[in-house]
Amino acid sequence: MNAFKFGPTTWTNKHHGTRTMLRISEVTVNNLDNNQSIKIPPGSPLSLAAVRSGMRLSFQCKQGVCSSCETLLNGTKVRTCVTKVPDVAKITIKKAPR
Ligand code: FES
Repeated sequence: MNAFKFGPTTWTNKHHGTRTMLRISEVTVNNLDNNQSIKIPPGSPLSLAAVRSGMRLSFQCKQGVCSSCETLLNGTKVRTCVTKVPDVAKITIKKAPR
């Protein structure tokens, strides 16, 4: 079973009638270190996006404790082992300075 639901999501409630929300099916991830772009579904592990885009990271704890996998996601430091790809059209990643 697919963990992600793509395409328009429609729901109805008695106050607002029927509403439709478009969901983003792919996020463009631009690796600023090597200028390589990939597409990946939102909610995927950021570590997967980083590795697929050619980033070399070291993972020690894989629990968000050691900070060995820190990356800049849209300019903000995050720990890739515990971060998901956000539900936006495009993100940039870059290896965090040590
Ligand atoms: S591997 Fe330790 S914080 Fe990510």
